[in-house]
Amino acid sequence: MDNKELFLKHQGQTTPYPLCMEVSKASGLYITDTSGKKYLDLVAGVSACAIGHCHPRIVKAVQEQAASYMHVMVYGEFIQSPQLQLAKKLASVLPDSLNSSYFVNSGTEAIEGAMKLAKRSTGRSEMISCELSYHGSTQGTLSIMGTEQYKQKYRPLLPDCNRIVYNDISSLRLITSKTAAVIIEPVQGASGFRTPENNYLQEVRKRCTEVGALLIFDEIQTCYGRTGRLFGFQTYDVVPDILCIAKGMGGGMPIGAFICSTALMSKLKDNPKLGHITTFGGHPISCIAALETLNELCETSLVEDVKSKEQLFREVLKHPKIKEIRGIGLMLAIELECAEETIKLVERGMEKGIITFFFLFTDTAVRISPPLTITEDEIRTAGKIICELLDN
Ligand SMILES: Cc1ncc(COP(=O)(O)O)c(C=O)c1O
Repeated sequence: MDNKELFLKHQGQTTPYPLCMEVSKASGLYITDTSGKKYLDLVAGVSACAIGHCHPRIVKAVQEQAASYMHVMVYGEFIQSPQLQLAKKLASVLPDSLNSSYFVNSGTEAIEGAMKLAKRSTGRSEMISCELSYHGSTQGTLSIMGTEQYKQKYRPLLPDCNRIVYNDISSLRLITSKTAAVIIEPVQGASGFRTPENNYLQEVRKRCTEVGALLIFDEIQTCYGRTGRLFGFQTYDVVPDILCIAKGMGGGMPIGAFICSTALMSKLKDNPKLGHITTFGGHPISCIAALETLNELCETSLVEDVKSKEQLFREVLKHPKIKEIRGIGLMLAIELECAEETIKLVERGMEKGIITFFFLFTDTAVRISPPLTITEDEIRTAGKIICELLDN
């Protein structure tokens, strides 16, 4: 059997037609397959590799940490420098009301932790999320997923989960004094990078404050620079009560965090204690990678440059078959005429050496979310290849 057959036989599969590129190595903007073919990566592991693949600063930090210590104790008992430095650095770039970070293993777990914290601190149970939102795939996060398609086979899920329509201010009346938390992606990911309109996030903030519900921002895709500011909430000038981050944060390593004030976080501490438990959450290697990624973003103009890179993408992606380019910064959705066009673009793109990808809840758009380190030349090359593919 060749590796593709072994992969399909022995690795759990969740889609009928995986892309099956066999990875040999990855560096900067490029992934090389085992035949030596190089691909320009416009997806970054789905918004996850913020500063490119195997950034030398991350590789060095990871190697040094691995040689020093790896897992030593479950989360929250020992003082481990990578965790501590990361928590301190995050507190220095966030407002005072977001000065306490709980590190977990993934975005999903960050949302789970935030939902539990909202229940503990409000004594309420209702969770409100948006239609077409994606917050993860465990049973808690499936309960707040904004579409039935991927959850109906797993019912019963959590009770008291209700939905509002993203960008519809009139539906905010559904947020009441029974609501523990409203969970929102500042920019919706899976629905094809939909951005907030008409001060929507400000209105949600206002309503949550009025009724005493917590506002949780799912910044698992928008964090670490993708919208042109370090965090999406800064782009839209609305501060949540709990901030959830992951993906781009790890510089290629798995990590997530839910972040709030020390006072709010303390609700997990006793009566009963151990409000959230994780063995590997805040793994020292992941934390050092997240710290160095954040340092790199703070010490360079990568975040500042996102806006001009977005502009250039919009200029080079002018084509009659592109109906719309949605999104902000380096999270852009190319809206095409039909699903067949998106499949063709992604598949032919692979043949031509560019990686683009699909969205979970819309089949007419193609994802562009490259590492923030993409250069102007690489954007021009990508635009040229995409337009040529659409010509044909
Ligand atoms: C907005 C959003 N929330 C949550 C998640 C879940 O994160 P993870 O896959 O790291 O568990 C994702 C992943 O795609 C996401 O895009």
